[in-house]
Amino acid sequence: MTDTPVTDAHDDIDEDRRNFIHIVTGMAAAGGVAVIAWPLIDQMNPAADTKAASSLDVDISKVPEGGEIRVLIGGQPFFIRHRTQAEIASARNANTQSLRDPQTDEERLVPTPDGAYNPAILVTSGVCTHLGCVPVGPAQGNVGDYGGWYCACHGSHYDTSGRIRKGPAPSNLPVPDYRYVSDTVINISL
Ligand code: FES
Repeated sequence: MTDTPVTDAHDDIDEDRRNFIHIVTGMAAAGGVAVIAWPLIDQMNPAADTKAASSLDVDISKVPEGGEIRVLIGGQPFFIRHRTQAEIASARNANTQSLRDPQTDEERLVPTPDGAYNPAILVTSGVCTHLGCVPVGPAQGNVGDYGGWYCACHGSHYDTSGRIRKGPAPSNLPVPDYRYVSDTVINISL
């Protein structure tokens, strides 16, 4: 797929989205917390009210260590990864200044309610910064050369902090606007 023409980008996005294992969508924050987990991708085309949702509460206690869940908010994908100790160490041991988009792992985390950091949980956008495909990850059995995510559209490799390490993507997977509602629940906003 590395030679996929740009004109096929939207087809690639649709194909990647069909690879989602866990899909969670939710209501707008104003309507209270509502999370629905769907096992299959058939529900990847959210209804109009779902597309309008602007934030989502996610129970991070449900994310298996070494795995991730993927959520849609307003039709946009996000990854919530529960990193292993080895994955955290790998992210922290990177030579930050040598990276294409220099960022420390700590800079990509947000504090918990008590002001501490939970390095096990990493939250990123699920959109490749090259041309917008959705990278695969641990749930799809391909974490790329740096243990994070791999975008098969044109071969971008992201590390366990979601930072671009190889391939054409110009920048890291963005960290969305999110906060800890409690030690086990985060709220992601558009
Ligand atoms: S969209 Fe081109 S590498 Fe991801």
